[in-house]
Amino acid sequence: MAAQSLLLLFCLAVGVLLARGQSAADTTGFISIDCGLLEHSSYVNEATKLPYSPDAGFTADGGTSYNVSAEYNDTPYNRLHPQVLSLRSFPGPPGRRGCYTLSSFVAGTSKYLIRATFLYGNYDGLNKLPLLFDLYLGVNFWKTVNISKPDLLHVAEVIAYVPADSVQVCLVSTGSGTPFISTLELRPLKDTLYPLVNITQGLVLIGRWNFGGLDLIRYPDDPYDRAWVPMNRPGEWYNISTMSKVAMEVDDHRKPSYDVPSVVMQTAVKPVNTTENLIWFPWDGEPNRVYPMPGLLPVLYFAELEILDSKHERLFFIRAQRNKSWVLLGGLDYLKTDVVSRNAPYPFVSPLENYITLRAANATAVRQLFNNNSTILPPFINAAELFTPISTANIGTDAQDVSAITAIKAKYQIKKNWVGDPCAPKTLVWDGLNCTYPISRPQRITSINMSFGGLSGDISSYFANLKAIQYLDLSHNKLTGSIPDGLSQLPSLVLLDLTGNDLSGTIPFGLLIRIQDGNLTLRYGHNPNLCSNSSSCQAAKKNLHSKTSIYIAVIIVAAVVLGGLVVLLLVIIRKQGRIKPHNEESDVQARSRNRRFTYTELKVMTSNFHRVLGEGGFGLVYDGFLEDGTQVAVKLRSQSSNQGVREFLTEAQNLTGIHHRNLVTLIGYCKDGEYMALVYEYMSKGNLQDKLRGRDHSDGCLTWRQRLRIALESAQGLEYLHKACSPPFIHRDVKTSNILLDANLKAKVADFGLMKAFNHDGDTHVSTARVVGTPGYLAPEYATALMLTEKSDVYSFGVVLLEVITGQPPFVQIPPTQPTHIMKWVQQRLSSGDIEGVVDARMQGGYDVNSVWKVTDLALECTDRTPEQRPTMTRVMAQLLEYLELEESRSTFYTSADGDTNGIIYTESSRDPSSSSSMYATDQSTSDVAQSSTTLRMGPNSGRASTVDTGPAAR
Ligand SMILES: *[C@@H]1O[C@H](CO)[C@@H](O)[C@H](O)[C@H]1NC(C)=O
Ligand SMILES: *[C@@H]1O[C@H](CO)[C@@H](O)[C@H](O)[C@H]1NC(C)=O
Ligand SMILES: *[C@@H]1O[C@H](CO)[C@@H](O)[C@H](O)[C@H]1NC(C)=O
Ligand SMILES: *[C@@H]1O[C@H](CO)[C@@H](O)[C@H](O)[C@H]1NC(C)=O
Repeated sequence: MAAQSLLLLFCLAVGVLLARGQSAADTTGFISIDCGLLEHSSYVNEATKLPYSPDAGFTADGGTSYNVSAEYNDTPYNRLHPQVLSLRSFPGPPGRRGCYTLSSFVAGTSKYLIRATFLYGNYDGLNKLPLLFDLYLGVNFWKTVNISKPDLLHVAEVIAYVPADSVQVCLVSTGSGTPFISTLELRPLKDTLYPLVNITQGLVLIGRWNFGGLDLIRYPDDPYDRAWVPMNRPGEWYNISTMSKVAMEVDDHRKPSYDVPSVVMQTAVKPVNTTENLIWFPWDGEPNRVYPMPGLLPVLYFAELEILDSKHERLFFIRAQRNKSWVLLGGLDYLKTDVVSRNAPYPFVSPLENYITLRAANATAVRQLFNNNSTILPPFINAAELFTPISTANIGTDAQDVSAITAIKAKYQIKKNWVGDPCAPKTLVWDGLNCTYPISRPQRITSINMSFGGLSGDISSYFANLKAIQYLDLSHNKLTGSIPDGLSQLPSLVLLDLTGNDLSGTIPFGLLIRIQDGNLTLRYGHNPNLCSNSSSCQAAKKNLHSKTSIYIAVIIVAAVVLGGLVVLLLVIIRKQGRIKPHNEESDVQARSRNRRFTYTELKVMTSNFHRVLGEGGFGLVYDGFLEDGTQVAVKLRSQSSNQGVREFLTEAQNLTGIHHRNLVTLIGYCKDGEYMALVYEYMSKGNLQDKLRGRDHSDGCLTWRQRLRIALESAQGLEYLHKACSPPFIHRDVKTSNILLDANLKAKVADFGLMKAFNHDGDTHVSTARVVGTPGYLAPEYATALMLTEKSDVYSFGVVLLEVITGQPPFVQIPPTQPTHIMKWVQQRLSSGDIEGVVDARMQGGYDVNSVWKVTDLALECTDRTPEQRPTMTRVMAQLLEYLELEESRSTFYTSADGDTNGIIYTESSRDPSSSSSMYATDQSTSDVAQSSTTLRMGPNSGRASTVDTGPAAR
């Protein structure tokens, strides 16, 4: 209420600013925006001589420009300040922001005065008031603007620390009317001014008064263009004034902490009634949603304007709130400004309590203090600023993230609510974004979902600047062009979804490496022109198709024959630099991004093909070592192999295009004249089949938990083939001998050189000329009707699961009975409720029966006769994960005897803020009062010198 009347005063203070003969102060860094003004119609304001610009260059966020309705055009204030006649409004749902970006900051200055004004003037013809909306300074809440009268100019001003080189001012709809703004001004301050303003605290203005003044004082009298509102109460106060200049007090560094223009200090008021000898005026915060009890910080300015003789003494008490104690003020210097302030704000109390009172001291007090009989003069005051502090501790989003996402927003012309800071405040985070909110560090963007966003053009390279991003979903847009390699440089990226676009080219090598290392999932289905397996683009694929079929048939024969004999062994390349694309003789080779070896190198690596590990589809597999000692397996094409050169390279690329932590990976290849070879990671623990059958005598039998983990990891590899590859791959020879184990028993699916891509979108199955695969694992529909789908792999995986549970081969033969398929064998035993009779006896009961039941059920689901009844690999994977987690929590429960018991942490009970103040409230007379280090000379009752507050507030 008090604040409102002050605003009214501001409005009515229309006096003409007198040119006071001083040279105009520096306006470097001033920004003066007349919001809603037509473009190219800048002008100079008559009163301040400051140029005002239209807002076009400052807001990119739309809004609509309006003029106040005619009846408000011709008020005295508005005639002098035409900048309030136009405005911009930002319609939208609650939470929608309209923002202005103020930059062009002055070097070496971090403190700014930012002022927005709002004159409703029934611009929308609705005459609907009150109107409430929120104002933000960057990511920090500034105030709630409450427009209650159409002709009342609402002023929002804050003095704040702006560490960056720009700051945003945002209007946020709260659902109580459309936010609008008339003017926006930014004025740099000297860093030494307003010591109460620091990086975490800003000061919102409640009032700035020039007591005894006649005119509104702004620029150029005030070099910072603060608006000093005249404050008079004729009949209650006398105005006093001087023609002499009033100097500011300077601090130890010879710089003023507050810099009030002399013309403001040259006027003051004193009470008319010398009996009462009292000045009082109300001051009030504006409670709002964020600060329901705003603190109050007065800054009072005094300069003695009368020359006092020895018979007169100026000595008075100040009280900031009713029922608070008084502080004594005296010894003020002639024509020199003294400042009374304090460090901590006064707590909010009811408006009725908030009166600043000045009262003359009485003769008794003077006698006590000065031991003379001087006459006491009435109190006076020259100027006052009243503030309420706000927190500016929220930092906002990391600057690099902001510039990247801003560029992305601009490129795709995103509308939505992508305005203001991307992450902060948390309630206004941009649609589709997720961020981290670390304490006292900038927020980072961790995920972006722009799925179904209608994006077109290529993938912005700015995505690669979002260094903290983990999930990037650009699926189902119209993106074209290639995938930027820079995405592979994003250290935290775990999921990149590019499904359903029109991307072309190959998958960048860097991304493949990331996928290979198992820390990135890439989805790129339904991009018809994307070279999904790095063997060929769609156009080339048509040519290759027939040959590919031939080669697949060829190796498949070999595979069927050789069955589970082959162990494929790969090495994970850890240093990306080791793998270098090379200059290619052919197209196909060019896309094989793996390392290329010469035959001589292979000879060195394998000690002249010394040790044979096994035999694969087209030749022997040799043990070898890279220069750095990494063990590898070298699969050398035998001279007699009828696999052609091109098919060989195509296979190599089939393998290189697919990378997952649970799939074996190719390190490199050799194509050196006649010689061709593939170099794989070495899998030291052999294959799962050998482990289950006990053919591997090294280290005992797999536990149930190990089995579950191996099953889960294999499922993950297969799921990747089915879901993440485009077109999806069917392994076609899933079996325990194709599941390899590394030194840590981590499972990787091998031998998917046999697999074949779905070549045509929309095909639900692929018919091939002949059955491939391994007896016992073949899905019935495939074995009989050559119907091949992903569900064929699910069937085979079901058989693998049954082997994992039982330890039996796919055809169980327990003499004297005929060999029975493992599925039938398990079903028979289960029908009599005999789960114990099914489980591998070598586990010696070290399992949870429930867990085994669940996995058995899942295995039988997978081996259902009808493909449609079988679960997808995704579901299988999810179920196994759940079972494994159950199993691990069970095992943990039994095994963790050492248990880290958390010690009880004893904390000091948090200090009651009110109790901390009591620490200082030892002397009623000096506690909780406005203090000034220089002017508070004496305690009123004690007669001794009181403590001097040397805190920064006063200075
Ligand atoms: C800013 O000032 C406030 C009030 O004096 C204080 O509590 C806060 O610690 C200061 N912040 C910094 C960063 O100095
Ligand atoms: C001055 O104040 C006193 C005390 O409130 C009051 O009695 C007196 O009438 C006032 N004098 C004038 C002239 O208003
Ligand atoms: C004069 O001031 C003293 C000190 O504040 C106070 O104790 C005393 O009551 C006052 N006397 C009168 C008459 O107001
Ligand atoms: C002040 O006045 C009193 C009584 O009117 C008197 O007794 C005293 O001496 C005077 N003190 C001084 C320092 O003039």
